[in-house]
Amino acid sequence: MNSAQIQFSDRKSKIDLYQLQELLNIAAFWAQGRSIEDLRTAIANSDPVITLWDREKLIGFARATSDGIYRATIWDVVIHPDYRGNKLGSKLVETVLSHPRISRVERVYLMTTHQQQFYEKIGFQQNTTTTMVLQNQSHLGSLTPGEIQLQETSNYYSA
Ligand SMILES: CC(C)(COP(=O)(O)OP(=O)(O)OC[C@H]1O[C@@H](n2cnc3c(N)ncnc32)[C@H](O)[C@@H]1OP(=O)(O)O)[C@@H](O)C(=O)NCCC(=O)NCCS
Repeated sequence: MNSAQIQFSDRKSKIDLYQLQELLNIAAFWAQGRSIEDLRTAIANSDPVITLWDREKLIGFARATSDGIYRATIWDVVIHPDYRGNKLGSKLVETVLSHPRISRVERVYLMTTHQQQFYEKIGFQQNTTTTMVLQNQSHLGSLTPGEIQLQETSNYYSA
């Protein structure tokens, strides 16, 4: 690996979605077979999205969602297998953490199945107390979308 040609980017427009799809298929067991359209949606709704490049080759990816102040979550951290063990993964996560959308946030969460030790070296702590999950809420049958009326924001505050 020639580290002089490795670059980090936070430009979403630079991301080649086909390379991202391939990287996730190679290296992220939880993100197999994601469609280009769904990846486009995930990137559009994430900030920051950090990519890592060896010239024109995508070799790393991480993204976060955040309210900018209270809570943020980091998702889809991955380094191409050929580039692991060079501190790129930790630099990738630190780049997400130092981004203005995340750096002021009170608590940053992430979910990991196997990489606890990697994240502990960055400063994360194990946290077994706060996690629940709702799998694909379209399977919930109790309420149909039309049953809940959201008020317009202007009406809500004019009461
Ligand atoms: C996890 C991953 C991003 C790490 O990337 P990397 O570039 O190899 O990690 P780094 O070289 O920055 O490692 C930083 C430190 O963490 C340690 N580390 C990395 N992976 C580790 C692991 N699985 N278990 C224990 N320690 C680990 C390294 O030894 C290094 O320690 P050091 O600072 O004492 O030398 C990479 O292995 C990967 O993409 N894995 C597959 C996808 C994945 O599981 N992502 C996390 C999803 S939550």
